[in-house]
Amino acid sequence: MLDQANALREMVGQPDAAATPPSPPTPLRLADGADPVTHAPRLAQSIAITSGKGGVGKSTVSVNLAVQLARLGRRVVLLDADLGTANVDVMCNLAPRGTLAHVVSGRLGFDDIALDAPGGFRVIPGASGLAHIAALSRRQLDRLAIQMRQLETGCDVILIDTGAGVGPSVLAFCAAAERMLVVTTPEPTAVTDAYALLKTVHGPGSPSRPTPGLPERPETHLLINQCRDAAEGREVYGRIAGVCKHFLDFAPRSAGHIVLDPRVQKAVRSRQPFTLEAPNTAAAKCLHQLAHRLDRDATDPRERAGGVLHRLSRWLYR
Ligand SMILES: Nc1ncnc2c1ncn2[C@@H]1O[C@H](COP(=O)(O)OP(=O)(O)O)[C@@H](O)[C@H]1O
Ligand SMILES: [Mg+2]
Repeated sequence: MLDQANALREMVGQPDAAATPPSPPTPLRLADGADPVTHAPRLAQSIAITSGKGGVGKSTVSVNLAVQLARLGRRVVLLDADLGTANVDVMCNLAPRGTLAHVVSGRLGFDDIALDAPGGFRVIPGASGLAHIAALSRRQLDRLAIQMRQLETGCDVILIDTGAGVGPSVLAFCAAAERMLVVTTPEPTAVTDAYALLKTVHGPGSPSRPTPGLPERPETHLLINQCRDAAEGREVYGRIAGVCKHFLDFAPRSAGHIVLDPRVQKAVRSRQPFTLEAPNTAAAKCLHQLAHRLDRDATDPRERAGGVLHRLSRWLYR
């Protein structure tokens, strides 16, 4: 019988063709004011971009996904929620007027600090040094939740660039989002850390396991970044999904791959999203496909009962 340690060794070392077939697409309807029939507010879709290991490309993916979703006509807000090493403002060459720290302390709201980024989306700059959001006071948490609620009634997509790992703040932002995009590279350390994150969110005893009457845990997608080609992306996805299926009785959906491309690093150095600076590269085409896939498969906004506020409160006051 396959034990977990063996399976993990196989996951980081040997190919496994067991991939989960993608789910059938559901039609997208945009958040745009209240529902004409029920008058319920239409809520934005929210996607947490996260990873087990740092430096795998979360912020690069977040910024360029924002650019591509904006190109599809969506009103996109990117919340920099990496409380340890926030840097979306640096990547987009922006000068923040305030950060998430001012919002949490009640001095400013998201509207006061949101900035227009190149590519036609809005950025809410993050703050370093807020490492333990779960330890914030009830009042501070309420402020954040209220700001998130206002945000999700005023745009179509909220992207949340989280920190790496399985700390309380990362898990809180993942729990708040409707969908989770777990980024990994083919490196063995990134793969095992991605599995650790998936296990924390989806394993037995996780507080985000479904409970009757409460929203489901986030729909989880796995993106393989910095790979040689599509075949390597499929192979790495297959290994991780196979181990998840075996031990967690769950498999993340495949979000595809992004190839390793030196022009991505070049664009980061020139503080421009690479899909704007080098739109014809293979990596930019991968991002374009990712945005299309996530947009096409988004849930109907009328089915987003409760939204971020409900999910965040459920997690924080569980
Ligand atoms: N597809 C890619 N090809 C080449 N370099 C990449 C790619 N994706 C990310 N990088 C590089 O990896 C580094 C870390 O990316 P970053 O987005 O800051 O990671 P994270 O937010 O996960 O810490 C950056 O220097 C970035 O340019
Ligand atoms: Mg980052």
